[in-house]
Amino acid sequence: MVDIGGIITDMNRFKIFDYSFKLEKHYMRLADGKRTNVALKRGDAKVYLMGSKGKQARTTLQNALYIPTYPQDIFSVETATRNGRSVEFRQDNSDLVHKNGTKQALLLEHLQGEIKGKILVDIGSGPTIYQLLSAFEHFKEVIMTDYLEVNREELQKWLKNEPGKFDWSPYFEHVCKLEGKGEPWQNKEKRLRERVARVIPVDVHQPCPLGQELSNGSVDCLVSSFCLEACSPHLEAFQKALEHVVGLLKPHGHFLWIGALEESYYLAGEARLTVVPVTEEMVRKALGMAKCIIREFRTYSMSPSMKVGVDDVSGIFFVWAQKEAC
Ligand SMILES: C[S@@+](CC[C@H](N)C(=O)[O-])C[C@H]1O[C@@H](n2cnc3c(N)ncnc32)[C@H](O)[C@@H]1O
Repeated sequence: MVDIGGIITDMNRFKIFDYSFKLEKHYMRLADGKRTNVALKRGDAKVYLMGSKGKQARTTLQNALYIPTYPQDIFSVETATRNGRSVEFRQDNSDLVHKNGTKQALLLEHLQGEIKGKILVDIGSGPTIYQLLSAFEHFKEVIMTDYLEVNREELQKWLKNEPGKFDWSPYFEHVCKLEGKGEPWQNKEKRLRERVARVIPVDVHQPCPLGQELSNGSVDCLVSSFCLEACSPHLEAFQKALEHVVGLLKPHGHFLWIGALEESYYLAGEARLTVVPVTEEMVRKALGMAKCIIREFRTYSMSPSMKVGVDDVSGIFFVWAQKEAC
């Protein structure tokens, strides 16, 4: 862990926020002498340093400020050089030099915006859109999918802004607040409606889950939330379904996957639907077998207040994985 401080513009880079930070008391002084409180949060953020042998190491930038309106991340040389380290600046690259002489390249900017491309596909969308609210911004075309026609119809109703559609506006408002750009939520809503090109059938138990609609190896990024474990009868089918879905990705394509941990059922109205209970270890193993490299794996444990009797889920996993080259 390196105590180097700085400014980070992407909230997803933060591992933990310092809740004693008071936004209204924290001012930045601008070059013209004006004071402004543009820092929304403070916390520990992850950054990447590249060692001399080309090995990438993730480290922590402690007490970094979250300022989404800054055009780029800023690294505090003053804090970095406090403990006998120094910084060497060059035109194309800069190094953090440790007391023992080892050097690590500073990659603060290089890894930003890594997840982007032409086609984003959401696997097993259900009747919901919340899972796309941030990711869709980085792709030219979004494709939503579900096995059930009734769910695809519900999505179409929202996309066409028809009477009786579900009201997602509180979700848009919340995500706009989190993104911190001060954008009216209606703009994001309009953009998502324009960006969704198709709503198509999917069956993750088929080797080509999207059939003729989209061939394997053609997708830049996949999103999927609470689908594979909910629609697979057992662990082997879950593993196969994951492999089928990953097959849709281009080499190095990204997979943003959310799922339930240790869940065996959930209630949908009167119906009690069975789920394959999976642990973090099982999900990690399944991704390895599907030839994916895990870039980030986070879990969340359900608090007692969230256990309201509609399921027996113990937690949620959030994965960013990348398909291997071949
Ligand atoms: C628990 S829901 C999740 C829906 C949504 N992604 C969400 O986060 O709320 C599981 C979804 O999987 C879909 N599903 C069922 N069988 C499927 C299959 N064979 N292939 C793909 N999706 C399937 C269901 O129709 C349902 O919408």
